[in-house]
Amino acid sequence: MAEKKQLRVLGVESSCDETAAAIVENGRAILSSVIASQVDLHAQFGGVYPELASREHVKAIYATVNEALQQAHLQLKDLDGIAVTRGPGLAGSLVVGVNMAKGLAMAAELPIVGVNHLEGHIYSAWLHPAENAPGPEPKFPLIALLVSGGHTELILMRDHLQYQRLGGTVDDAAGEAFDKVARLLDLPYPGGPSIQKAGMEGNPKAFNFPKARLSEPYNFSFSGIKTAVLRTVEEFKSNKKELPVADLAASFQAAVVGALFEKTMAAGEEFKAREIIVAGGVSANKPLREAFRSQTSYRVHIPALSLCTDNAAMIAGAGYRHLVAGQVDALDFDVLPNWPLVAAG
Ligand SMILES: Nc1ncnc2c1ncn2[C@@H]1O[C@H](COP(=O)(O)OP(=O)(O)OP(=O)(O)O)[C@@H](O)[C@H]1O
Ligand SMILES: [Mg+2]
Repeated sequence: MAEKKQLRVLGVESSCDETAAAIVENGRAILSSVIASQVDLHAQFGGVYPELASREHVKAIYATVNEALQQAHLQLKDLDGIAVTRGPGLAGSLVVGVNMAKGLAMAAELPIVGVNHLEGHIYSAWLHPAENAPGPEPKFPLIALLVSGGHTELILMRDHLQYQRLGGTVDDAAGEAFDKVARLLDLPYPGGPSIQKAGMEGNPKAFNFPKARLSEPYNFSFSGIKTAVLRTVEEFKSNKKELPVADLAASFQAAVVGALFEKTMAAGEEFKAREIIVAGGVSANKPLREAFRSQTSYRVHIPALSLCTDNAAMIAGAGYRHLVAGQVDALDFDVLPNWPLVAAG
């Protein structure tokens, strides 16, 4: 990338059901961030409907990118690079963002880099609105707890772009567990916010859902808790008793938050981390945020609520790190729907 003081990267994100574009300066300051959400469209199916998602991206992507440029009062020629989500995600959805980004890179002769969506979630911890002063930058070594709709991973980062996987879920992702339990409780999609809302009036100690016993210290399992909720629901239904939705939601949430918090803290201690990042859609969860904020052992970085779920500013932020490290992709790269953040082995 050009050696300038202000490097502006356009981020493009279309891995799932949000079409997003954003412009970020020097990997931190958000000049604009636009998200066209399809959540209302998919709510009728209780989850994301892949073919519909890619076609919605096709319709929305041009206006979304245009809006991101306009809100930042910039033109393509003012940009220094383009970052786009290459995976993981829905193949048909990823293709739309990648092709848009490639077209722009070709037309404006800009360097382009394909970014891992999960890396984007982690780099949301560096972002701040351009009109606000930046907060302290995360310091290495750090532990990143990545909790989203499709992933739950504990990552050790000793430097930028260096990821060591300490563990992750062996079954459902945390967000997936929230979504499935919400369905069991007849709460609307997406499940995370619904469970949080319902749980506000409930007693988190009403039900004691079991902790998963796992041989690997930093792995997670949420399917046991989900099954325990299912059994409880069935029991109430067969006894024709009214379902204590608020108590079930609060107790389920407390069990998930407890596991996430305890393992992250233990990893921090073992690997002598200086700081912790909590990112991904589930990091919007209030009790989870409160658990991390009320401890005093580590400085914790949790993105602003608007940056927890999918957005393109996080992709621009991560892409900036690659571009300044000289990592640029040729224009023939393919999407990687199953791209892990850390390769196995
Ligand atoms: N307040 C909340 N509490 C708990 N979970 C939440 C909350 N808000 C959102 N979520 C969950 O976050 C998930 C969506 O997060 P995100 O957009 O990062 O996931 P995704 O992009 O679908 O998956 P991935 O990033 O793994 O590809 C959903 O499962 C949703 O239920
Ligand atoms: Mg995501």
